[in-house]
This record gives sequence, structure tokens and C-alpha cells, in this order.
Amino acid sequence: METARTDERTKLREIIARYHGEKSSLIAILQDIQEAYNYLPVAILKMVGQEMDIPLMRVYEVATFYNAFSLTPRGKNVVEVCAGTACHVKGAINLLENLERELEIKCGETTKDETFTLEQVRCLGCCSLAPVVRIDGNIHAYLTQQQIPDILRNYRK
Ligand code: FES
Repeated sequence: METARTDERTKLREIIARYHGEKSSLIAILQDIQEAYNYLPVAILKMVGQEMDIPLMRVYEVATFYNAFSLTPRGKNVVEVCAGTACHVKGAINLLENLERELEIKCGETTKDETFTLEQVRCLGCCSLAPVVRIDGNIHAYLTQQQIPDILRNYRK
């Protein structure tokens, strides 16, 4: 347990060093932490406060202000269903329901094996490709329910 903590601290110090420990880089540091863990573990946020000499309250403020940050564990692959108007009109809700059935979780949840987290997001900014689902940053355009099993299979590999 203690070794794990030491490893975590070493990993965190490497991330902080990328930004020379600049307090003004807190957002970028939190982004890198989220990329490393897929979410922001509370224990690591506490370490950020200690290592950067920033009050924990401030670290939490930033971590909770931005929607892109998650304080709850997320799966290896984050599936984001666009809930913007164009996607909604093109049946995004059906895609979401289909994904919920395929993954056997509700929106906002993570599969037991921590492979997938399913989320709904606002307009992804590529409305002409509606309906759109983003998985790990990859846009899947004009998505149909029939394509979903194959797409998920590729991410399971
Ligand atoms: S509404 Fe879905 S990308 Fe804009």
C-alpha cells in the first residue's frame, strides 16, 4: 500500500515537472492526471495540493468547475453520446438506449469490468455529422444502432 502511494507520488511529480510546478498550470496538470487515471482520484488531488503548495479547496474548485473533469472512476473507454439538438433530432436518444442495453449500464455509469463509461454530452461541434457518438476522443459519425455492437467490439480488444 505504502509502495503504491510512493509510485503514485512519483508519477504525479513527473506530471507536475512537465509544467515546472507552475501554479498557473493547474488545469493542464489536472488534465494530465485525468488522462493517466481516466478520472481525478481524491488521494491524488490531495497530493497535488501538497506538492504544489495550493490549498486543497482551490484544487477542488478547479476540479469541480470544469465538466471535462470527473471525480468518479471512469472506464478505460469513455463513450459520449451527443445530446445536442441536431443529434437529438437524428435519434441520439435511441443510440443512448441501445448503448445502455449493449453495455448493461445506465448513462453516467461504468461497466463492472471498467471497460466502458457511458455519458451524455452537449453538442460536440460537428452537427453536420449527426447523430454523433465520441469514444475516447474518436468521432463516430452518422451512427446507426446496427453499427454499435461492432464498434464496441473494436474498443473491447
Ligand atoms: S448536436 Fe451533436 S454534434 Fe452538434
